[in-house]
Amino acid sequence: MGGLKEIDVGTTSERASDTIITTGKFSKSTEAEKTMAILNVIGSSTKFRALLDSVAMVAPVDSAVLIQGETGTGKEVIARAIHEASPRRKNRLVALNCAAIPSTLLESELFGYEKGAFTGAVTQTVGRFQAADGGTLLLDEIGDLPLELQPKLLRVLQEKQFERLGGGHTLQVDVRVIAATNQDLGQLVRERKFRADLYYRLNVFPMILPPLRDRREDIPLLAEHFVQKFASQQGKVIDAIPEEVMEALEHHDWPGNIRELQNVIERGVIMTTGPVLSPRTTEHWTRGDAAPLRVPRAAAEPVDIKTLADADRAHIIATLRETKWVIGGPHGAAAQLELPRTTLIAKMQRLGISDEISRSRSGQSPRRFVRVMGGLPSRLQDEAAADLRVMAAIAG
Ligand SMILES: Nc1ncnc2c1ncn2[C@@H]1O[C@H](COP(=O)(O)OP(=O)(O)OP(=O)(O)O)[C@@H](O)[C@H]1O
Ligand SMILES: [Mg+2]
Repeated sequence: MGGLKEIDVGTTSERASDTIITTGKFSKSTEAEKTMAILNVIGSSTKFRALLDSVAMVAPVDSAVLIQGETGTGKEVIARAIHEASPRRKNRLVALNCAAIPSTLLESELFGYEKGAFTGAVTQTVGRFQAADGGTLLLDEIGDLPLELQPKLLRVLQEKQFERLGGGHTLQVDVRVIAATNQDLGQLVRERKFRADLYYRLNVFPMILPPLRDRREDIPLLAEHFVQKFASQQGKVIDAIPEEVMEALEHHDWPGNIRELQNVIERGVIMTTGPVLSPRTTEHWTRGDAAPLRVPRAAAEPVDIKTLADADRAHIIATLRETKWVIGGPHGAAAQLELPRTTLIAKMQRLGISDEISRSRSGQSPRRFVRVMGGLPSRLQDEAAADLRVMAAIAG
């Protein structure tokens, strides 16, 4: 991480926007930057800035956007940012998660239905396309859209026309579609699970969100942001993050990406009683006594399996090694294990797998200085001036 300054700084929210409001080099992004700051979207890495440029570029036009990225990388956040930075922000952003709705109901959710269209259709109902008229429709988990519905979506994308279920009347809408997925849609096309024509129609402006482990420079800012957020939600004042905690956060692999980081910090804030974030936030990654099972560095290393949980853990880790730690997508560990991706991630968290992976890789010795967010209270400075280096990570 570049540019550590030894200084007392302002509040986290001021700092968050400092990192987003940039100089002339990114002047094209100014509107997007403001939007990101308003939405509390945090980041300052080169990859994040490239993303910002893409948001700025695509927001004003009506083209379809396809956002791809692992779970928790911020696909929904970026979709909202595009909507908010676009002229359509005056109207609604309507979201539909294609994986969360049974396929038999998806058609009526998307297009609505007429009274009497099917048993139980007692009134005429507006679908998401109509609800999003003049605004933006976010089709989340688009890879789960059933094949038989795909031609209907293609038609409304191309002709902006559709009919409600059970209705002969053609409706015209003005909707910008943003699709998101953590699956490799191109691969689904090759496997004939997703129609090529719809893929090309959606993929007008592709955006690939990098996993958190590929933009580790953003971890301190995100961590500070989440500490601030959860401390304020829990009525606490937390001014400092121990360096050993920050180092552990920076070294972790984050299979659940920003969502996982958020959850770790929330748990840490719950465990914190004073002004310094509890070292317990990450101690299960850095201590040797946290879990009964070691993760082998090489597949050949012996694993001590005593319980069913140990067996589950070992099997999941072996699968993750095979898939090179890819969780989602048709060739990811979730598919190999025949589990929904979210179930696998929850299992990994419950079994401490991400913790184990990180611990087995890092083996770092914790440093003693404290990284500070916001002003370090003078009380704390007096007490620990000899031990603490008051550091703030300021980008640029
Ligand atoms: N740049 C960011 N700054 C602050 N918070 C973020 C950022 N990106 C994501 N988050 C937070 O991380 C969490 C996950 O983000 P989001 O729901 O957008 O991910 P996703 O890619 O849609 O995940 P999934 O594939 O599981 O649906 C959210 O709580 C979101 O607010
Ligand atoms: Mg999402």
